[in-house]
Amino acid sequence: MCPGSALRVLTLAVLVSACFSVSNRCLPGDSSCFPTNIELIKFLENLEGNLYFPHQPEYDKLVVQRETIYTKFPFAIAEVKNAADVQKCVLFARKYNLLVSVKTSGHDFLGRSTAHGSLMIYLGSMNATKVSMSSTRNPAGEIKCESGNTWLKVYEEVNKYNRVIIGGSAHTVSMAGYTLGGGHSPMSRMFGMAVDNLLELELVTANGEIILANDHMTQTTHLNGSVSTSDNTEIFWASKGGGGGTFGIATKFTYKLHYTAPQVVQFVCGYPLIRANGQHIGFTVLQKVFSVIKNMPKEWGGYVLASGVPADSGKWGNVIVSFNHYGSYASTTRAYMDQLANFHKEWQNFCFYVNRTTFLDYEVTAKDPLYYAGYIMNTLLQSESFDDSLVRFLVNELETEHTNVSAFSFTGTLLGGEMMKVGAHDTSVHPGFRTALMSLSASIGWDTGMLDYDGLPQRGAVVGEQLSAFGDGQYPNEAGMDVVHWQQEFWGSNYKRLLDIKHKWDPDNFFTCRECVGSETTHGHSGHHSHIALDPVLG
Ligand SMILES: Cc1cc2nc3c(=O)[nH]c(=O)nc-3n(C[C@H](O)[C@H](O)[C@H](O)COP(=O)(O)OP(=O)(O)OC[C@H]3O[C@@H](n4cnc5c(N)ncnc54)[C@H](O)[C@@H]3O)c2cc1C
Ligand SMILES: *[C@@H]1O[C@H](CO)[C@@H](O)[C@H](O)[C@H]1NC(C)=O
Ligand SMILES: *[C@@H]1O[C@H](CO)[C@@H](O)[C@H](O)[C@H]1NC(C)=O
Ligand SMILES: *[C@@H]1O[C@H](CO)[C@@H](O)[C@H](O)[C@H]1NC(C)=O
Ligand SMILES: *[C@@H]1O[C@H](CO)[C@@H](O)[C@H](O)[C@H]1NC(C)=O
Repeated sequence: MCPGSALRVLTLAVLVSACFSVSNRCLPGDSSCFPTNIELIKFLENLEGNLYFPHQPEYDKLVVQRETIYTKFPFAIAEVKNAADVQKCVLFARKYNLLVSVKTSGHDFLGRSTAHGSLMIYLGSMNATKVSMSSTRNPAGEIKCESGNTWLKVYEEVNKYNRVIIGGSAHTVSMAGYTLGGGHSPMSRMFGMAVDNLLELELVTANGEIILANDHMTQTTHLNGSVSTSDNTEIFWASKGGGGGTFGIATKFTYKLHYTAPQVVQFVCGYPLIRANGQHIGFTVLQKVFSVIKNMPKEWGGYVLASGVPADSGKWGNVIVSFNHYGSYASTTRAYMDQLANFHKEWQNFCFYVNRTTFLDYEVTAKDPLYYAGYIMNTLLQSESFDDSLVRFLVNELETEHTNVSAFSFTGTLLGGEMMKVGAHDTSVHPGFRTALMSLSASIGWDTGMLDYDGLPQRGAVVGEQLSAFGDGQYPNEAGMDVVHWQQEFWGSNYKRLLDIKHKWDPDNFFTCRECVGSETTHGHSGHHSHIALDPVLG
């Protein structure tokens, strides 16, 4: 039986979702196991950070997920200040058998960073950074960041040293979930994924120990204060793509820095899908864009975006490329893009190059949505994926999906280049990442007033499955909620080793989240579509 809830906000939704996923945990309202108010206050007093409850304004600020349909209600939010705080939270939760959720930015597309009735460990306030220019591990230096940093802050920091770093395109994404899931960047074709640039990691494990892991050792600070070192590197490997919220709570990341290019050139070009005269050009435009991508020099990276919404002046839909060139305007690699700049100029909405000085100069122009609502899906497109049937599929979705309720759109991040030089099993990301040319994330979005459009998950799951058939694997950080064979789709032939490591480091599945390594035992099998209807608290 599932225990009842004492908190008013924790309505039916809590009971049902808790029963599905974590019935062995102690939830609010179960007086046989739940900590008393006095015990909670003692715990709070012991933290350097804070502990917020639902009646406090700080709770309201931190509880909302960026993907608003997944906002859930932890019984309290611990705003931690350092690894010792995180350790205290883990030990407290273990003592009372509480469910924990781990959140840094709350950007996760599946709501993996929150859970009803949990103790949420919130790391967003840990944002110290330290650049070291005299690194023995990397000639261009390194940066150590507490995991609550967001990327724009880090870009600004390293720019002071004339360096760049592999990070997210969005300013508000944090390094934690991003890096642990793989991490792609507009510069990944030049410098690889975030995990390829990760030098070291500090992590609080499921038994509350603090470890420092890198590619040659794991140093453990035990609960009794003694320190031991082993040459075991499996937890470091698992952290390089195995996903957030699974192997431990990361408190610090150390990354390689790279020298800046003499210049960064941006190329932006947009076409409608249907011209004002009714001519459908989406197919021809996308086909051209994909042919350009196939042979592109690694100096170019960035995004292909498309959306099926009405456009200006009687046009409909759009395809936009937003590419960045790591190098000077005068180079032949930059001139490679002229073939696209000159492609059917009469069809273009706009098309131009911009001379930028640095990556930061380019990156500050990116805009983040504060909140969004959409059903996300992903596929890792390989060279052979870019045939006419893919183009036909995408154009068809773009043109037919749009109603007054929802619209299909996609963002394809360009991959390849240096990413291909890392072995399929050197990191734990899906091996398909190492041969892919694009991570295509699509979304069926809907008006925020349409939270009850419950046909969407079914529709999204169907389209998502069709889409994934074009590629090899999916990016777990940008994938759908109903991926049936998610183990295979997210990690491919790296899954077995990840699961072995999970069993060894967290045999009780203390850390668990939806479609995360090992979650088949705590979250049942995916594919039930009722969770949106189970969120009446949002209504
Ligand atoms: C607007 C937007 C732009 C994006 N752009 C990119 C991009 O350019 N490149 C890219 O690769 N991805 C991108 N993503 C996807 C992004 O990588 C994922 O959303 C990622 O999960 C975000 O991690 P987070 O820590 O910020 O989010 P959260 O929602 O806080 O956490 C995500 C997951 O990691 C876990 N987690 C959080 N903190 C920790 C921690 N300290 N230790 C261990 N686990 C933790 C959570 O429990 C959860 O499972 C983008 C997402 C959004 C919404
Ligand atoms: C860093 O975190 C502190 C709180 O710990 C906060 O006051 C500050 O605004 C944060 N800085 C940035 C740039 O996010
Ligand atoms: C501390 O704990 C570790 C791990 O449990 C153990 O191996 C070690 O012997 C302990 N050291 C001391 C001094 O108690
Ligand atoms: C960019 O700078 C180069 C010279 O370095 C110049 O030839 C070119 O016209 C400039 N392009 C734009 C779009 O300003
Ligand atoms: C969508 O548009 C149709 C026709 O204009 C209208 O009848 C319907 O109520 C709209 N649906 C929603 C959810 O707004």
